[in-house]
Amino acid sequence: MTQALQTILARHQFNPTRLLQILREAQEALTWIAPEYIDTLAAGLGLPRARVEGVAGFYRFLHTDAPCRYRLLFSDNITDRMLGNQDLLTTLCEMLWVERGHISEDGLASVDTTSCTGMCDQGPALLVNGWAIPRLSRERIARIAELILAQAPVETWPRELFAVADNLRRADILLGNPLQPGDALRVALPLGRAALLEEIKHSNLRGRGGAGFATGLKWAACRDAAGDGNEHTPRYVVCNADEGEPGTFKDRVLLSTQADLVFEGMTVCAYVINASHGFLYLRGEYRYLLAPLNAVLARRREAGLLGRDILGHAGFDFDIEIHLGAGAYVCGEESALIESLEGKRGIPRNRPPYPVSHGYLQCPTTLNNVETFCAAALVAAKGADWYRGIGTVKSAGTKVLSVSGDCARPGIYEYPFGVTVRQVLADCGAENTLAVQISGPSGACIAADEFDRRIAFEDLATAGAFMVFDRSRDMFEVARNFAHFFAHESCGFCTPCRVGTAMLRSTMDKIAAGHGTLYDLAEIEKLDRVLNQSAHCGLGHTACNPTLDTMKRFRPTYERRLKSLDFEPAFDLDGALAAARRMTGRDDTGAHLSTEIEA
Ligand SMILES: Cc1cc2nc3c(=O)[nH]c(=O)nc-3n(C[C@H](O)[C@H](O)[C@H](O)COP(=O)(O)O)c2cc1C
Ligand code: SF4
Repeated sequence: MTQALQTILARHQFNPTRLLQILREAQEALTWIAPEYIDTLAAGLGLPRARVEGVAGFYRFLHTDAPCRYRLLFSDNITDRMLGNQDLLTTLCEMLWVERGHISEDGLASVDTTSCTGMCDQGPALLVNGWAIPRLSRERIARIAELILAQAPVETWPRELFAVADNLRRADILLGNPLQPGDALRVALPLGRAALLEEIKHSNLRGRGGAGFATGLKWAACRDAAGDGNEHTPRYVVCNADEGEPGTFKDRVLLSTQADLVFEGMTVCAYVINASHGFLYLRGEYRYLLAPLNAVLARRREAGLLGRDILGHAGFDFDIEIHLGAGAYVCGEESALIESLEGKRGIPRNRPPYPVSHGYLQCPTTLNNVETFCAAALVAAKGADWYRGIGTVKSAGTKVLSVSGDCARPGIYEYPFGVTVRQVLADCGAENTLAVQISGPSGACIAADEFDRRIAFEDLATAGAFMVFDRSRDMFEVARNFAHFFAHESCGFCTPCRVGTAMLRSTMDKIAAGHGTLYDLAEIEKLDRVLNQSAHCGLGHTACNPTLDTMKRFRPTYERRLKSLDFEPAFDLDGALAAARRMTGRDDTGAHLSTEIEA
């Protein structure tokens, strides 16, 4: 054991910023993180034991409870539920003789749930020891149980179980681009840093990770940031491939089909801001993409597209490494992601200062979404005027959507900005649609009378999720699933979010159980105001969105669950004390009290 840990520590040069990667690899080698491993790692990295323990305890995919040979985590997004994941989970528990959420007595297997694993176009899905298995069916579950009971190592399981499809349904300028590796750089580098930055600014490119911040402005702010005052302060490029928003899986497909374009965009950015090091933060659920992505990086190094003097430009040195996350949605928030990259718990930082001036190791850092880097590479290759001519005046270019739920053709659709919801529904074969959840639980839920609205920053902004619900669905249950998601993913750092998301979850459960009242609905509105005003990050700010949206648009689904519509909550103190008064012989409260006062 100690030898295995020492090898892992040495591979990471005993560097504490690699702590998360080290813990992950230690678990892969030794099946769990035992207390004595924590001691060894703390000593090897020169860190307090509590720091190592704190990190190991923060991430869903790191296990400190007990050894277990096969850990199965079912994806529990609403789309997995709609496809029957709960029945399959119960069946697997029965086949393996395990209780949900517990490790079997012989330490063989455990079965539990996790948040959306990004396979909504081919659900239900699960992870076995971190490896994704999509398209679960009764037959596949029986096969998995058989392999586990035969104690077959996961590496020997049939490859077809793990095959993830791209489900590419509509390609436009990005997914259909004809560029070869290096094409964008060959156009961009001769332009020079300043002119290239002007192209990015002029293209009107805005971030695709949700907030829509102007990419050129972000890059300029990072280039101009003083860092710690030293002009030689290193600068970093970070690609956010955490993609944790339920219903979003477009970055998964961009990484599997357009990896060169992603890395090319990061390299263009490095050139502009003068960075020599980049990170791609890949969500743990996409563990299977790690080896292919590393292979692309290796090819690019060989082709002179990464490394020293890129494409012969003396002094332009840049390389990229991939860090894997370990199951924490909040790590998609940019400052939490940077904390995680530094080997810490993924707790969002106070902002300002922003990552552009104080990011990775407090140095200027440009952090963008996967799709943003792809689009930046396109702009570099084909020019700002070409790019801004596509889409709408306020939203240049195209948007890649992850379409899932009640439709005949779930998958990836790329459209110029400005496409209507109705058009997307027609293309994906959705019928009798009741509602669409745009941009995941933290986005917006829209009903049929809004289907002429447009996907664009000026109307429906989205990071990419497009979940379809037909008329057979109950939107209260959709919102309840999202309330559970937020409570589960709250990092617990700030009280309003930690307590507020738990209150929202229990209120939705109370309503589901038939004990809710109008008072509870009003309380949710109050809770939303509190979270908006006082939560520390976007997770808390948006946690009530799906509940409020569905309450507004589908009120009857809430009201028919309420105990009564005219119930007034009140507490009868006198009545509650009546029994105690009788038992103590103090029936006449008023008389007794006045006697006591007189005495
Ligand atoms: C709770 C939370 C989760 C987030 N998850 C992601 C994510 O998975 N991917 C992403 O690109 N941005 C995510 N973001 C937004 C990032 O903080 C950041 O704005 C974005 O990565 C910037 O890139 P862009 O300018 O290219 O959009 C998240 C934000 C919050 C508050
Ligand atoms: S709002 Fe929630 S997720 Fe964000 S820092 Fe506070 S507790 Fe953590």
